[in-house]
Amino acid sequence: MESALDYHTAFALLDWQVDLGATEAMLDAPLNRYEIPEKVETPKPVAAPEAPVTAPKADPVEIARKAAAACKDLDGLQQAMAAFEHCALKRGARNLVFADGNPAARVMIIGEAPGRDEDRIGKPFVGRAGQLLDRMFDAIDMGRAAPLSAQSIYITNVLPWRPPQNRDPKPEEIEMLKPFLQRHVEIVAPDVIILMGNISCQAVLGRKGITRLRGNWQESFGKPTLPMFHPAYLLRQPHAKREAWADLLSLQAKLRDLA
Ligand code: URA
Repeated sequence: MESALDYHTAFALLDWQVDLGATEAMLDAPLNRYEIPEKVETPKPVAAPEAPVTAPKADPVEIARKAAAACKDLDGLQQAMAAFEHCALKRGARNLVFADGNPAARVMIIGEAPGRDEDRIGKPFVGRAGQLLDRMFDAIDMGRAAPLSAQSIYITNVLPWRPPQNRDPKPEEIEMLKPFLQRHVEIVAPDVIILMGNISCQAVLGRKGITRLRGNWQESFGKPTLPMFHPAYLLRQPHAKREAWADLLSLQAKLRDLA
């Protein structure tokens, strides 16, 4: 639309407005300030702060597997187990009970878990059950102090830390620590394995029922494996020593066969 005002009139009007105090340029189109906008914009809700991104929980079995696989020898394995922080049993135990005997032994004995005496001393099978175990192997001219591999034994447990009040190990504790046991067997590389009692059979063979399992050769970790009554059971049930004696003779025969 063309302005009806000539230049001089328009200038005079502007000048007059400036005199009145108008300091800002006017808009191109008129603005009705009484008009209510159709859509009142509602303020955006303030977004709740995002939950912090948490790292997925580490799998203790996988951590144990990696730690165990990296061990080259028994010292390294013992250190790796001592540094493993994912098993709550460690916090209630006095000592890591790693092993005892001759690492060159042909026979590796796998017990259940340390008891009070083992926890105090830091060696497996040193209490009453351990003394009976020593007498049993002495009867076939074998022992943990024997220097020759043919006559010596090497002893460890499924768990290296004492469970509180000597309770049974939990399946998750066994699973978590089994990679260390497997590596232990690989490093020692015995000719045969003896599983002492139900818990060891459950942990290693995945089977319970020591009364039926004992005396029957199995295979675990790729080795001939003989389940036997636990010496603690023999202390409570001395009549079962007869079967234990038969199992020791079976062990002797197997070692002869394999020699
Ligand atoms: N019983 C076990 O099975 N292991 C030990 O070391 C002591 C008692």
